[in-house]
Amino acid sequence: MKRKISRFVSERESELPGAMIVKLLKIAEESKDIISLGPGEPDFVPDKPITDFAAQKLKEGFTHYSPAQGRLELREALAKKLKKENKINVEPGEIAVTCGSQEAIFLALACTVDPGESVLIPDPGFLAYRPCVELLNGSAEPIELKEEEGFQITGEAIKKAIVNSSRTKVLIINSPGNPTGAVFGRKTLEEIADVAVEYDLTVLSDEAYEKFVYKGKHISFASLNGMKERTMSFHSFSKSYGMPGFRVGYVSGSRELIEAITKIHPYTTLCSPTVSQEAALAALGGPQKWVEKIVSDYDRRRKFIVKSLNEIRGFHCFEPEGAFYAFPRIDFKSGGKKMTSLQFCEWLLKEAKVACVPGTEFGKFGEGFVRFSYATAFGKIEEAMERVEKAVKRLKS
Ligand SMILES: Cc1ncc(COP(=O)(O)O)c(C=O)c1O
Repeated sequence: MKRKISRFVSERESELPGAMIVKLLKIAEESKDIISLGPGEPDFVPDKPITDFAAQKLKEGFTHYSPAQGRLELREALAKKLKKENKINVEPGEIAVTCGSQEAIFLALACTVDPGESVLIPDPGFLAYRPCVELLNGSAEPIELKEEEGFQITGEAIKKAIVNSSRTKVLIINSPGNPTGAVFGRKTLEEIADVAVEYDLTVLSDEAYEKFVYKGKHISFASLNGMKERTMSFHSFSKSYGMPGFRVGYVSGSRELIEAITKIHPYTTLCSPTVSQEAALAALGGPQKWVEKIVSDYDRRRKFIVKSLNEIRGFHCFEPEGAFYAFPRIDFKSGGKKMTSLQFCEWLLKEAKVACVPGTEFGKFGEGFVRFSYATAFGKIEEAMERVEKAVKRLKS
């Protein structure tokens, strides 16, 4: 533990790094001339019938608490969705609805990890995994995802990350991946399954970007033979339906773990907002064509940004097949020295007025990479790429 910096805050809090992304996004928001390719949220809003339905429900008095496990009608609809779309056979009793999938991940870790135990996390990976584990006094062990392996998790990399197998009980995977955009194919998932069985790991499968797959198909880890029993799957309305502010996500898994989550949910937020659960029900029950249209529009942006970055000297961009991020490797020098990801992002913000996120926000193996989100209007992405190209001409690589 580091020295405590204030008598008012805990050592636990003072140990956590402040997210650079928050600082960058604040700067980007405050200056109107900056184009931000930083955010991790979609730029579209839910289809009008969804928001109309939510507004109507508010008028009808859906302003009370909901059950900690989530409203039964919604869980019934989710069980159908999970069976049909994800090939995960769960009953409504094996699902809990939470304030976004973020809360579900935290609750699942609280229910599976004891202090001093280790959790294997992808690196580069979603920036909340490590703090969540550390807030629970667990230890986060990074699994290196390599660009030359298409940022897929390999069985070998998982084994290498295990420091003490008797203290390692949980493995987090994320496909489609943030920040890499990698989508895990069946071969990768089967390799993960083999290691999960060998080391008797509970797998937390974060599938928040399940709808944003541009090549091939999204495969849920729990749908693999024999994996349902050891897997907790996390899904969300935030990205799929453009509803991040509604705060609705859900976790499915064994009845035992879902009951454990339901037991502690009253001590975090108690329930996902009741009106938001109604909106989620409307999103699931309504037509899905509008989501498909958005995904195909995101695909156009994806192709454009990847091509543009690869045409600019100093960038090498792996082709992401999912989510809404491009995660290029950078090679630029300043004052004769190679720039770090953070130095480059700060430089770009100042010189090109374009905000992106340093790869190190996503773990130590993210050094040498930056993340550009393409969940932004096409015209803005075009202008951002022009600005980046013009600015980096002044740098050596
Ligand atoms: C990989 C991943 N998982 C989970 C989340 C949490 O999303 P939410 O809590 O809105 O469902 C995010 C948000 O950015 C994410 O990128």
